[in-house]
Amino acid sequence: MKILVIGATGTIGKEIYNTLSKHHTEVYGAHRNSKTYPIDITDKASIKNTFEKLPKLDAIINASGTAAWKNFNELSEEDYYLGIKSKLMGQVNLSHIATNYLNDNGSITLTTGILAEHYEPNTAALSLVNGAIHSFVNAAANEMQRGIRINVVAPGAIVGGFPEDKKFAGHYPVNIEDVVPLYQKAIQTKITGQILKLY
Ligand SMILES: NC(=O)c1ccc[n+]([C@@H]2O[C@H](COP(=O)([O-])OP(=O)(O)OC[C@H]3O[C@@H](n4cnc5c(N)ncnc54)[C@H](OP(=O)(O)O)[C@@H]3O)[C@@H](O)[C@H]2O)c1
Repeated sequence: MKILVIGATGTIGKEIYNTLSKHHTEVYGAHRNSKTYPIDITDKASIKNTFEKLPKLDAIINASGTAAWKNFNELSEEDYYLGIKSKLMGQVNLSHIATNYLNDNGSITLTTGILAEHYEPNTAALSLVNGAIHSFVNAAANEMQRGIRINVVAPGAIVGGFPEDKKFAGHYPVNIEDVVPLYQKAIQTKITGQILKLY
């Protein structure tokens, strides 16, 4: 299986990349500062440019994208656009472009998080984006062609980045070793339109 992992040096992406590399011979890692496969998901030309360097893929996983962390009372319209341009439209544009570079029955797996449905202070802008991606995946999955599938993994806070004994959005952080199998499930099974949650 030929797999591209975007955000391959991040807390989540690095573990996805390392785990998949043990089981598949062709796993490519991309991120903005990569020397081999630089990609910025906020820039459609950059996304296309990266795909042009790669063979046709069987799975594309994105574990990148950001949004503003601010109290509702301090959020400006511009603050919202940060997340809309990055984590929301970055993943939406990636999904559109990816369909041209995937083999038949290939898969796209996006990343959101617990904030789509549980409250944590200062996360209104991030919650908005996560919820939008869930709705997008739910609908877009029905119209993907050539058997292409799309799913999203929604983890809780990851142990390490957040203290293990403190709740985030009302839930204890989760181990990355338990999150990676959700990405594996998304690429290896026939599921589509699913939100794979762990929190
Ligand atoms: N960590 C958590 O606890 C957690 C929990 C639930 C959900 N999430 C979500 O999961 C995603 C990844 O989180 P993370 O904590 O793993 O992030 P992270 O540790 O900050 O790593 C982000 C990764 O994405 C790359 N990247 C950043 N912006 C990019 C862009 N515009 N285009 C392409 N690559 C980009 C980074 O490398 P470069 O800087 O070189 O680009 C890096 O490889 C985020 O959307 C986050 O909201 C995280």
